Amino acid sequence: MSDLKPYEIVRELDKYIIGQGHAKRSVAIALRNRWRRRQVTDDLRDEIAPKNIILIGPTGVGKTEIARRLSMLTDSPFTKVEASKFTEIGYVGRDVESMVRDLLELTVNKLKSEQQEAVKDKASQIAEERMLDLLLPKPGVQKPSGEDSDETQFELVTSNTNEPSSTRQKLRKMLRAGKLDNRYVDRDVPDRVMPVVEIFSSAGMEDMGINFKDMLGGLLPKGKKRRKLKVKEAREILSHEEAQNLVDMEKVVNQAIEKVEQSGIIFLDEIDKIVGKDSGSGPDISREGVQRDLLPIIEGSNVATKYGPVKTDHILFIASGAFHTVKPSDLIPELQGRFPIRVELDSLGHKEFVRILTEPKNALLRQYLALIRTEGVEVVFEDDAVDEIARIAEEVNNLTENIGARRLHTLMECLLEDVLFDAPEMNGKRVLVDRQFVDDKLKDIKTDEDLSRYIL
Ligand SMILES: Nc1ncnc2c1ncn2[C@@H]1O[C@H](COP(=O)(O)OP(=O)(O)OP(=O)(O)O)[C@@H](O)[C@H]1O
Ligand SMILES: [Mg+2]
Repeated sequence: MSDLKPYEIVRELDKYIIGQGHAKRSVAIALRNRWRRRQVTDDLRDEIAPKNIILIGPTGVGKTEIARRLSMLTDSPFTKVEASKFTEIGYVGRDVESMVRDLLELTVNKLKSEQQEAVKDKASQIAEERMLDLLLPKPGVQKPSGEDSDETQFELVTSNTNEPSSTRQKLRKMLRAGKLDNRYVDRDVPDRVMPVVEIFSSAGMEDMGINFKDMLGGLLPKGKKRRKLKVKEAREILSHEEAQNLVDMEKVVNQAIEKVEQSGIIFLDEIDKIVGKDSGSGPDISREGVQRDLLPIIEGSNVATKYGPVKTDHILFIASGAFHTVKPSDLIPELQGRFPIRVELDSLGHKEFVRILTEPKNALLRQYLALIRTEGVEVVFEDDAVDEIARIAEEVNNLTENIGARRLHTLMECLLEDVLFDAPEMNGKRVLVDRQFVDDKLKDIKTDEDLSRYIL
C-alpha cells in the first residue's frame, strides 16, 4: 500500500468521504511526498523537511474521517491523536512527547508481528519438534508426573520404546493429521501478571517511557503454572513462543525507529482546542504551554523513548480543527509558521447529504437497512425520501447549529425510531419510506425551532 499514487489515495478516500476534494488532494500529496523523499539520494533527503498541513473546517464535515481512512491506506507509521488530550509538561496528564512514543510503539509492534508472520513456518516446525518431545519423553529422561493423564500420553510410548524414531514418525503423522488434537499435555504457562503492577502502570507511568511491567516483572519471581492443555492449544502456544524467539528484536527496533524518523505521520486532531483565547490566566496558560511543548517536536528534536531516542525532524504533522470560536491566527505564531499548508474544508449542504446518505461504502442508510434486516424486516427508501431527509438536514443545520453530517445521524434516529423499536414484532414485513413518511415523522419537530434544538 505504501506507494499509492495521489490519485489512488484520493480514489480510496472517495469511497468513504463525499466532497472535500481539496483536502483529499493535499493529504494525498503529503503522503506521496513521504514516499518520494525516501527515493531521493541521502544528502538531499536530510534537507527535505515535511510540509505540515492544517485542515480547517466546520464541525462534522469529515476531518476526523479523513484521518481515520488515511491511516488504513498508508504504510507509513501513522497515528492520530487529539491535541486536547495533552497537558503542559509539569502538569498531571499526558505530555506531548508521548505521541512520538506511541507512534514508535505502534510501529515496533507492527513490524514485530510482520516478522513473526514471516518466520511462522519455521516456528511451527520447531514447535512440532517440541510438541513431539512433550508427547514422547526421550528414553532415560524422567517422565513428568502425569498422574491422571497417563492413559493419554504414555500408552503410545510404552508400546514402542525400542523404536524411538519410528514412533516419533508415527506420532508426527498423527499430530499433523490432527488426531491428537484432543489429547492433553502438561505445559508450564506463565502465570498472570500480578495485579499490583497494574496499579502502578495505569497512573500515567507509561508516559515515562519505562515499562513498569517489564521492570518489575524482572524483579518479581516469574510465576509459572503447570496446566493441562489440549495438544492443539499447546502447539499454538509453542509456535507463538518460537516465533517470538526467532524474531530479532534489536533489528525490529532499529527498523521501527528508522521508519518513524523517515516517514512517520502524526495526525493532530482538535488542534483548535489548545488555543487559549485570553492567554494569561487560568487553565489557558496550560493550553498555550501545550502549544509551546509542541514546537520542538514539530520543528525537530530528540524524543526519548524506551527503545532509544527518536528524531522528529522528518515526521509529518497533519493538524485539524473546526476553529469555530477561535482562528488559526490565535495559535501562537511560532506554531502557525510550522504549518505552512492550510486547507479549508467545505461545509456540507443538501447535495452532499444525499450522497453521504447513500454513496459511501459505510453509508448511513446501508447501516440502518442492515441493522433492521437482522429482524427480518425490509426497509425500502424511495429517492424522494432521501432527498427530503437531506433537505431537512440542511434546513435544521441553518436554523439551529450547523453540525454538518452529524445531523443526518440524529435525523435518521428520529425517523426510524418506531421501526427500530417494533422491528422484532414485524418479522417478514416491508416498510416503505417515502416523502410522506419522512414528512409525517419529522415535520412537527422541524417546524418547531425549540423542539428541533433539543431533538435533532
Ligand atoms: N464529507 C463526508 N462524507 C461522508 N461522511 C461524512 C463527511 N463528513 C462527515 N461525515 C460523517 O459525519 C460524521 C462526523 O464526521 P467527522 O468526525 O469527520 O467530523 P469532523 O470534521 O472531525 O468534526 P469535528 O470538528 O467536530 O471533530 C462521521 O460519522 C462521518 O462519517
Ligand atoms: Mg473531528
